[in-house]
Amino acid sequence: MRLKDKVCIVTGAATGIGKATAIKLAEHGGTVVVADIDVDGAEQTVEEIKQKDLKAFVEELDLSDLTGIKEFAAKMISRFKKVDVLVNNAGRFSTMPLMEMTENEWDAVMDVNLKGTFFLCKELLPEMIKQHYGKIINLSSLAAKRGGVTSGINYAASKAGIISVTKCLAKYSAPMGINVNGILPAFCDTKMFNSLPQKKINSAIKGIPVGRPARPEELANTILFLSSDESSYITGEVINVDGGVLMDS
Ligand SMILES: NC(=O)c1ccc[n+]([C@@H]2O[C@H](COP(=O)([O-])OP(=O)(O)OC[C@H]3O[C@@H](n4cnc5c(N)ncnc54)[C@H](O)[C@@H]3O)[C@@H](O)[C@H]2O)c1
Repeated sequence: MRLKDKVCIVTGAATGIGKATAIKLAEHGGTVVVADIDVDGAEQTVEEIKQKDLKAFVEELDLSDLTGIKEFAAKMISRFKKVDVLVNNAGRFSTMPLMEMTENEWDAVMDVNLKGTFFLCKELLPEMIKQHYGKIINLSSLAAKRGGVTSGINYAASKAGIISVTKCLAKYSAPMGINVNGILPAFCDTKMFNSLPQKKINSAIKGIPVGRPARPEELANTILFLSSDESSYITGEVINVDGGVLMDS
């Protein structure tokens, strides 16, 4: 029970990596808030967790809405009196070609992936600082380091920004007992990856030394580690969980 009595918020947990993470954190004793713009999907995740006799709650959250983020954070603090773990997993994908990029599409992706992620951290940090404890885990992407070709430039830039946000938050909050880290997946078997054309999926898989995309649970395992006290001396790191694609450390 690595997360006994810990309050854990997982954004974008209606499906994919977020859902696997919410289930994993609950299995390790966490009380999990499944926060997503997709309330029906979030309810399904919570139902699955409750069927295992574990603790989870649904909360609607749209990361592109700063007022909504503030209200969400205030509600969490008033309801649970603390927040121990925040997994910033929600993400909006884009495949708009570089020379066709529009301002609206640029902003839509940045607002969710980068701006929303930072402002949610900013709202919850004072509570973590008060308790001198907190774990923040952010989701970057292979596109951040490699540049987006299949994925849009806006998506790649937002995920590169996540690496920087992770380091800034880690430096700021390390003296206050808070660890801020990230994971960097390459290809994971979720709706997002499977929305690509089959030809792109096949060529992506060819480039993975392990020979297959990640299962969401395999990413959730690293997120669990970074959420627990086993990673107490790690901060400001973004760990490649990519089946050997990058090998850049
Ligand atoms: N699947 C991959 O191959 C892959 C690779 C690299 C990085 N990632 C990153 O991992 C994270 C999870 O990806 P996934 O593959 O599980 O994706 P997914 O599309 O299956 O899930 C994304 C979740 O985010 C939620 N979401 C989208 N916009 C939102 C908003 N405005 N407010 C709140 N929630 C919102 C969706 O409703 C959904 O539940 C994302 O940040 C993604 O960029 C995924």
